[in-house]
Amino acid sequence: MKVFITGGKGLVGTFLSDAFMDRGDEVYAPSRKDLDITDREKMVKTIKIVKPDILIHCAAFTDVDGCEIDKKKAYLTNVVGTQYVAEGCAEVKCRMVYLSTDFVFDGKKGSPYFEADTPNPLSIYGQTKLLGEYYVSHLHQNFIIVRVSRIFGEKGRNFASSLPFLMKEEKKIVLTDNIVNSPTYVVDLVEAIIFLIKKNFLGIVNVCNRGECSWYEYGLKIKEIMNIKDIELVPIEFEKFVNRKAERPCYSVLDTSLLESLGFSMPQWETSLKIYLER
Ligand SMILES: NC(=O)c1ccc[n+]([C@@H]2O[C@H](COP(=O)([O-])OP(=O)(O)OC[C@H]3O[C@@H](n4cnc5c(N)ncnc54)[C@H](OP(=O)(O)O)[C@@H]3O)[C@@H](O)[C@H]2O)c1
Repeated sequence: MKVFITGGKGLVGTFLSDAFMDRGDEVYAPSRKDLDITDREKMVKTIKIVKPDILIHCAAFTDVDGCEIDKKKAYLTNVVGTQYVAEGCAEVKCRMVYLSTDFVFDGKKGSPYFEADTPNPLSIYGQTKLLGEYYVSHLHQNFIIVRVSRIFGEKGRNFASSLPFLMKEEKKIVLTDNIVNSPTYVVDLVEAIIFLIKKNFLGIVNVCNRGECSWYEYGLKIKEIMNIKDIELVPIEFEKFVNRKAERPCYSVLDTSLLESLGFSMPQWETSLKIYLER
């Protein structure tokens, strides 16, 4: 297969590239510097030249609080950029995989979200990712929308990936205890994406590790696995956390029964976190 990955140097993009290359597939995974998705002419032209069998769209403005500060950049990258990528895919009729988020939901349901539940994003990040979903699903029918939550992994620059390192350096860390979702190990996510492609699945599907936790519980589990003694973890309500700009869904666990019914079961998050920390 010829695989085109946008955001190829990001956390998910890097792991996807490696996984497809290991399978012997031909991979084109440019960085933002090489190919900016908001440059329509270049984006569509490149897709036409590469003519991939499949394009996995990982590029996004992923800083949830940053999106509130720079709304224009959030809209341009996550909506307009996604539109251009989807238009390019439609032109060459290649399948498009779009990475979306649990932040499309408001978290008020009180139980895990199914794919068909009605989105109601609370933040600019969630809104722009949802608009991206609309472009992907309206510009052509050959698409997979993968909704993911709280990704962690070896090459991640996000909080979920870097918290273990922070916990080794700091004496005290304050973590929210009323924002709950399912952590997702990038290696499991990549396996699930490859499974869905091979299965010829089309439509929206939730992919996250099984189980759920707050950031505080996530920190406690890291502390336990790494046996870090001299760190104090302090639970705090999200509302009291002054540094945050974006509102978050308080309970955005994604139900993965559709993925399971297709024949793919994600490991429990604690199991995958242990593997990540051991690596
Ligand atoms: N990480 C999570 O917890 C999480 C949860 C749910 C959904 N997702 C979704 O999963 C996807 C992958 O996330 P990730 O964790 O791999 O994010 P990431 O590590 O932040 O990677 C995103 C990549 O997109 C690139 N990018 C940003 N603007 C671009 C532009 N205009 N043109 C081309 N490339 C651009 C970034 O390049 P620069 O570094 O140069 O800016 C970066 O390499 C995203 O769509 C995200 O919304 C992530």
